[in-house]
Amino acid sequence: MEKLNPTKRDNFGSKLGVVAAAAGSAIGLGNIWKFPYITGVYGGGAFLFVYLGFILAIGLPIMLSEFVIGRKGGRNPFGAFKKLAPNTPWKYVGLMGVAAAFMILSFYGVIAGWSIEYVIKSLGNQFHEKSPAELNTLFSTFQESTITPVLFQLLFMVATGAIVMIGIKKGIEKFSKILMPVLVLIIIILDVKALSLDGAAEGLRFLFYPDFSKLTSEGVLSALGHAFFTLSLGMGTIITYGSYINKKNNLIHTAIQVTVADTVIALLAGIAIFPAVFAFGIEEASGPGLVFITLPNVFELMPGGYFFSILFFVLLTIAALTSSISILEVAVSYFSEELKIKRRNATILATVLISFLGILCSLSMGIMKDVTFFDLNFFDLLDWISANMLLPLGGMFIALFTGWYLGRKKIKDEILHGGYISKFFLNGFLFLVKILAPVAIAVVFLHGIGLISF
Ligand code: PHE
Repeated sequence: MEKLNPTKRDNFGSKLGVVAAAAGSAIGLGNIWKFPYITGVYGGGAFLFVYLGFILAIGLPIMLSEFVIGRKGGRNPFGAFKKLAPNTPWKYVGLMGVAAAFMILSFYGVIAGWSIEYVIKSLGNQFHEKSPAELNTLFSTFQESTITPVLFQLLFMVATGAIVMIGIKKGIEKFSKILMPVLVLIIIILDVKALSLDGAAEGLRFLFYPDFSKLTSEGVLSALGHAFFTLSLGMGTIITYGSYINKKNNLIHTAIQVTVADTVIALLAGIAIFPAVFAFGIEEASGPGLVFITLPNVFELMPGGYFFSILFFVLLTIAALTSSISILEVAVSYFSEELKIKRRNATILATVLISFLGILCSLSMGIMKDVTFFDLNFFDLLDWISANMLLPLGGMFIALFTGWYLGRKKIKDEILHGGYISKFFLNGFLFLVKILAPVAIAVVFLHGIGLISF
């Protein structure tokens, strides 16, 4: 046995361990920073509606597929495909995931760096008695500056690298379990405050009332991309985590729990932000800064707001960390298990390369603003290629692999190790992964890039 699996691997001890770690990966900046920002850009309710549809019909089945592939394959995505489908090109899906991991973590680290900066601004009481316009300037001055955002991004990357080096179980399990519920609690408190503001009705209407005339094909593609991004799907993160799950775990329950938790938290974040956006006259389509220019206004109005804002940005940074370690893990497990680089060196190598790309992302908000590709700065370019292209395509291949290559019997056997599956559910799942998800992804993608139109 030892020979088959030369790299010593840890397993998650408890059931809560897996759910917490997978949820820790899923829940992060995607929910609290990106979801409100792109919902604002793409027009609100209709975007939300499409996004929720994608989560249910595509995200959930692909999450289950990744768990099945991961636990059955027992290693990193590249290796898992190689083992389950020897001598076929399927392994390159794993490689695409490694590329996506590099790109995502580059810009992810920048936003996490902003969050660290906002911890410091909170500590220094810098939001105090500032008008919405002044808070906006405070943000853009920082975001466009050259040195500080880079330093914080690097700090975040060092922390990510260090945790990955310590190892999966010790590093991840501990972090996720206690702190995420506290973050959720703070968001709920923010919701209550936001709902008491004058703009609450308008904000909720923007978020929940679907006005389909505002929906564009680009918006639909972004909703699809974000469904993958927020659930950590399409690049092998969940395959990697699945490989650490023991056979007694019920994969279906785990997939449902993670998906529901992730979606609820995004909605709670939206409910905290949009009422405030309208109450303070902030532009909904402000872009990546939306959360940073909106929430300080709310903290200012809250009793104990000084402490809440410190705690919020600290926990947001930690939520980002439990996601970033899962992204880095994809690259590191590939380097160490496939390229046979020592795990320690693999971690250093990946962290350094990604940090370098991250510096370019950060500078593209300021001094490198004018360097654009297809009208996108470097940050937006990496975000677009990874979230709107690599993740959906990766997800499409993962669905096809599960449905057509593994097939009914193997899927069923893997799920049955620790769970139960009804015929109805299995048939539904097979339909989604064999046909619906791949076709939907292909259509949305081709439509989104303008190659087909209706
Ligand atoms: N899901 C994470 C978030 O929402 C980001 C992520 C994407 C993590 C892809 C892993 C893989 O913040």
